[in-house]
Amino acid sequence: MQSWSPENWRHQPIRQNPAYPDADALARVEARLKSYPPLVFAGEARRLKAALATASEGNAFVLQGGDCAESFGDFNANIIRDTFRVLLQMAVVLTFGASLPVVKLGRMAGQFAKPRSADMETVDGTALPSYRGDIVNGPAFTAADRVPDPARMETGYFQSAGTLNLLRAFASGGYADLHEVHRWNLSFAARSPLAERYGELAQRIQETLGFMAACGITSATTPQIRETDFYTSHEALLLPYEQALTRVDSTTGDWYACSAHFLWIGDRTRQPDGAHVEFLRGVKNPIGIKVGPTTPVADLIRLIEILNPKDEPGRVTLISRMGAENVGQKLSPLVRAVKSEGRRVLWLCDAMHGNTINTATKIKTRSFDAILKEVRGFFDVHAAEGTWAGGVHVEMTGQNVTECVGGAHHLTEADLADRYETFCDPRLNAEQSLELAFLVSEELKSRRRPVPLTAVAAQ
Ligand code: PEP
Ligand code: CO
Repeated sequence: MQSWSPENWRHQPIRQNPAYPDADALARVEARLKSYPPLVFAGEARRLKAALATASEGNAFVLQGGDCAESFGDFNANIIRDTFRVLLQMAVVLTFGASLPVVKLGRMAGQFAKPRSADMETVDGTALPSYRGDIVNGPAFTAADRVPDPARMETGYFQSAGTLNLLRAFASGGYADLHEVHRWNLSFAARSPLAERYGELAQRIQETLGFMAACGITSATTPQIRETDFYTSHEALLLPYEQALTRVDSTTGDWYACSAHFLWIGDRTRQPDGAHVEFLRGVKNPIGIKVGPTTPVADLIRLIEILNPKDEPGRVTLISRMGAENVGQKLSPLVRAVKSEGRRVLWLCDAMHGNTINTATKIKTRSFDAILKEVRGFFDVHAAEGTWAGGVHVEMTGQNVTECVGGAHHLTEADLADRYETFCDPRLNAEQSLELAFLVSEELKSRRRPVPLTAVAAQ
């Protein structure tokens, strides 16, 4: 591998980089961030990489989800808990339905920076810099809010630390104990058909736990019942921030990005010679690459070669985001090429970013049907190519928002005005997320290769 250091990206062409007006103020924040403790430990990132390797081999499924963009204003226990709770519910539905371990990866505790299609936004003849996420500038359409402010990076760091602390407490402190499966359902309205369906599943899990307890397997004897592994992820977009949180792991001497366990490269910053690829090349974390309908096959193969020259399983996750109409045609050649190159990757389906539409009144939304159609198309492609459809990537929230149309409550465009709260892209609400998990678990169940009895007997 060519020599690498955390600041090398500064010599490469960069897209989506904010224009900070005060270079000294930026340098001061970077220096402080460099002195702060890392948010995650390298050993955790290695553990996630091993789990993703298992998923890439077809022996686990990955659920990656959370906000499109976290906001500084939504930093409170209820919002964090509700997102975590719905992710747990979705994971339980998938695990139980498909009898597969589910790797849980939040788009949380650091998902603040957003790529934009234009550098400037013009309203009524006034042009201001585009909003790039709370870690860069503010969403209000005022000159003061839109100036990139490096102090926001420090706020982002401390907010990530607070969120991660609570997530860790929930994951290992009893909230995620499987005996609580019923209670994760509590905040759903009683009228929800999904709450009913989930309640039935929780009942079956309760019975299973009762049986296991009678056999001597309880939360006290078995940590897997009492706790769960929950990992964090975000787009590695704001490189001054990522560089400042990059550390050498004292046990291996390797560099790790310590802002989250898993980082991904977005569809707009995946140029093989670009700064973002250069940065991620040198850190040892498991990483993702968004793969869209405009990704050339040759670029994808080159990216995998640059980012995973030793073909380590679990290192590269390809997150396909083709759109429901494109997935059949656009994904197949990419999956086939990666397979014929003999590359070990994990494929996830981001069924959100290729399905964003504008209503007649210019509200950004997504249709639940299109999202489901893309997931099914993704499964179809992998079935046809003989590869493993390894997981889903969703933008969702634990709140009862009205941002995506469709789902069990048949939300319409007219309903969008009720609770449209996202700072960026439209998210599935709690109920739509759970519904998607049930539908995906049915797909998994019906398509899963039967485990040969001889393999079971040998275990
Ligand atoms: C995202 O995941 O929020 C995003 C911007 O996706 P993409 O890079 O695939 O457009
Ligand atoms: Co988004």
